[in-house]
Amino acid sequence: MRSDLDTMMTVLEGLTSRTSSSDGLAAERRPVPFADAVPAGAAPSAEDLRPVHDLLDTLLRRRSVLQYGEQPVRTDVILTLLREALGRDRDDWGLDGAAGALEAFVFAFRSEGPAAPGVYRVTAEETQFLAGLDELGPAEDLGVQREFSTAAGIVAVYGDLDRADSWAGSHGYRVCMTRAAMATYDFNLRFQTQGLVGTLFGGFIPSSVRHLVHGDGVTRQPLLATTYAHPLES
Ligand SMILES: Cc1cc2nc3c(=O)[nH]c(=O)nc-3n(C[C@H](O)[C@H](O)[C@H](O)COP(=O)(O)O)c2cc1C
Repeated sequence: MRSDLDTMMTVLEGLTSRTSSSDGLAAERRPVPFADAVPAGAAPSAEDLRPVHDLLDTLLRRRSVLQYGEQPVRTDVILTLLREALGRDRDDWGLDGAAGALEAFVFAFRSEGPAAPGVYRVTAEETQFLAGLDELGPAEDLGVQREFSTAAGIVAVYGDLDRADSWAGSHGYRVCMTRAAMATYDFNLRFQTQGLVGTLFGGFIPSSVRHLVHGDGVTRQPLLATTYAHPLES
């Protein structure tokens, strides 16, 4: 068994560097805008957002799930929970201006309620419909495990690594990654309070949606994803 930790320690020490590995001018660059995006419809009512499990119950029940019920999910609820999680990231860290904002893309395969199936963009500030499922291609292409595509939808949280690196080098990258992880877990636990299930996963395939989300791998790079769905037994 390999017990040499030198390589790992070198990587960890490298993450402490605050020297930008680029030109430090990311604030002068902007991710490609979405010219054809349209604002998503009305937010769900407070009743629609009411949790079915309290905090203790949610923490006791929580687990990663890869088998899903076939019922569609209220995408308007998903969009609202996600936007609230990104709002908490913006407000808690206070880094959007200096290090870039998180943004998320929702791939809603099975939807009920006012929001149609399709691709959505969500930030702390806005929620937009980008494209229908016909433009997405096969859902199985989005992840390294086929099970992900059997969920009602997938949410991928993206970061601006260009801004994070210009702000604080490799340390900026790890803060950006930590923010994405916190926001993804925040969202994942919130939808579990609604009785939904899913799993966080690292195996989201950026190239599968690069054309739709203008993912250039620098100003817009997926960092973590989660599935969501009704549980199999309901
Ligand atoms: C950063 C991260 C990446 C993960 N990637 C995957 C993945 O690619 N595929 C998968 O099935 N589960 C993935 N998971 C889920 C873990 O397998 C799961 O959280 C772990 O087995 C613990 O189980 P629990 O969440 O039910 O407690 C990931 C979890 C984290 C935190």
